[in-house]
Amino acid sequence: SQRRFFVIGNWKMNVDKSRIDSIVKFMTAASLNPRTEAVVGCPSCYLSYARQQLPNNIGVAAQNCYKVAKGNFSGEISAAMIEDCGCEWVILGHPERRTIFHEPDDLIREKVAHALKSGLKVVACVCETKEDRDEGRTWQVLEAQMASLAASVSDWSRVVIAFEALWASNTGVLATPNQVQEVLSQLRQWLRHNVSHSVADTTRIIYAGSVSSDNCQEMARLADLDGFLVGSAALRTDIIDIINARG
Ligand code: G3H
Repeated sequence: SQRRFFVIGNWKMNVDKSRIDSIVKFMTAASLNPRTEAVVGCPSCYLSYARQQLPNNIGVAAQNCYKVAKGNFSGEISAAMIEDCGCEWVILGHPERRTIFHEPDDLIREKVAHALKSGLKVVACVCETKEDRDEGRTWQVLEAQMASLAASVSDWSRVVIAFEALWASNTGVLATPNQVQEVLSQLRQWLRHNVSHSVADTTRIIYAGSVSSDNCQEMARLADLDGFLVGSAALRTDIIDIINARG
């Protein structure tokens, strides 16, 4: 495939400096497949610290940012600040931002547009909930998220799409490889029909939802899967196996 395998370990709000030190230690000691692009998602207050501690072959992403460069927006950080901390990625529209903090598609679209314009690379998340799946509206929901996202993307080469099955995240229920492949291929077809053939062929689409060292190898073989967005396993040495999941 012409698409480089992409694994982002999202630390969420689960690290402090000493935890970062221990993760950096095992990630630095491990031998990471150089064909995989590896990134960590870091809390904003530790972006500079993580960037300084990690080797250059591991990227650092912020977990969110606001839609303008600066101003009176207490509590927010901007794309420019992320770059100033030496980082080149941001995760936008994470399912936790969408569900817990009620970020709507419109806001996420504006954030993506601004982050790309500022020069960041974006992991843009789309997700389905258990209710979406149970009520048969998975595709309807994802299509709306994709249409909103596509309206904001000026340069697809700096976007990775992450699909999260929320019903398979920290629930003890795992998505089957068939369920994952079905959605990923629908997302790629959506790009083919609504953006272009070349964008569909070159854009990385990754999966999130309880990815671990136990299930990553089987999923890494899926035709339309180009990597993983990893939560809890990113805090453990599991992340090494996941980065190396595609031999
Ligand atoms: O950002 C990561 C996703 O929310 C998945 O988290 O691997 O703990 O299910 P998880």
